[in-house]
Amino acid sequence: MSSFSNIRRYVLYFPEFLLCGPSYARFFFFARSSEVLDPKFVWKTFTSSGNPLVENFMRNYPPGVVRKLWAFLYPKLQDRVAGISKHYDISNDFYQLFLDRKYMFYTCADFLTNQDTIETAQENKANYILGLIDPQPGEKILEIGCGWGSMLKKIFNFTGDRENLYGYTLSVEQTRFIDQTYGFSAQLKDFITTEYEPEAWDKIFSIGGMEHVPRADLLPLARKLASAIKPSGRLVHHFFCQMTSAPPAKLLAAGADIFPGIELATWQQHVDTFEQAGLRIVHHSVHDYRPTLKAWFDRLVENKEAALKLVGVQTYNKYLCYLAEAWRLFDDRDLLLMRFVLQRQDAPNPWASSLYAEKSRRNLQAVCK
Ligand SMILES: C[S@@+](CC[C@H](N)C(=O)[O-])C[C@H]1O[C@@H](n2cnc3c(N)ncnc32)[C@H](O)[C@@H]1O
Repeated sequence: MSSFSNIRRYVLYFPEFLLCGPSYARFFFFARSSEVLDPKFVWKTFTSSGNPLVENFMRNYPPGVVRKLWAFLYPKLQDRVAGISKHYDISNDFYQLFLDRKYMFYTCADFLTNQDTIETAQENKANYILGLIDPQPGEKILEIGCGWGSMLKKIFNFTGDRENLYGYTLSVEQTRFIDQTYGFSAQLKDFITTEYEPEAWDKIFSIGGMEHVPRADLLPLARKLASAIKPSGRLVHHFFCQMTSAPPAKLLAAGADIFPGIELATWQQHVDTFEQAGLRIVHHSVHDYRPTLKAWFDRLVENKEAALKLVGVQTYNKYLCYLAEAWRLFDDRDLLLMRFVLQRQDAPNPWASSLYAEKSRRNLQAVCK
């Protein structure tokens, strides 16, 4: 089995190099190895820059027009829903080996100092997003793409209101985990195709869920969400996007295997989509994903033996390569992590001004103390 797999990766390397480019071929060459990869080698190979000519070639081959065609066709050949469940249903125990121990967030954290651990950084992020959502007891709140219930837990700790918290996910394992651990209403529901009752929700938020939304579905979804929130409600949207309309060459492997069917939108498309849907961006911020990816990588390496027992060599190798490659995509500014707060354009009380006023009042108080 292992020698077959090793022969296979050599045989596939050259056709994949020609058709899909050197970044894609390199990713699978290492990820398919039947030997456990050396983490130092993986990190160095995927994250450091080599010869500028080679780097340039790796970024630009296949050419943009081919990558665009790929981005258009590939998701149509894959089953999006099955792809999501394939990724998130690997095993809850496996994700527990490298995500933070308090929340199990599988999204970018906020590292504020060099001493922050992944636990501190996820707490920082949770506090930041809590401020954006500003949940109040009695408000009906929905997370679309709720993962292992991390932010729902944070909100519950703040409001003490469990009854009005809802989450949708496409992972059976995640619903099982949330049900057993917290007892929130996490439903196995596709948030793209679901019908939303008009003006039923005070707050809807997504932390890293909308990256899975195909471009063609973004606007219809944004329209549904805009009409699902109350006139005074808000939508909080934390997402990463690509900077150019053609997907970066280093993202092709992720689209083929890690997140099958993924079709990232650009920053501009997110802005246009929400505005066309009748929403106004009242907050936007940019965050750095790299320290989170490095922290997950290091923790997975620390837990190598347990990971190998749970998921085997090739999944372990694949995750090492994917976390390192993702770090590089953010380092090269091919991908960008953003947070938006959106309100309906007809909102009775535009919220941004009050938030900023409140924030600057607090800052001023702190300075004047
Ligand atoms: C990157 S995880 C983020 C989870 C969580 N929000 C967090 O911060 O850790 C993305 C989540 O979105 C969910 N998801 C993606 N597309 C979905 C869809 N169409 N319907 C429901 N859930 C979806 C996945 O099942 C997963 O729970």
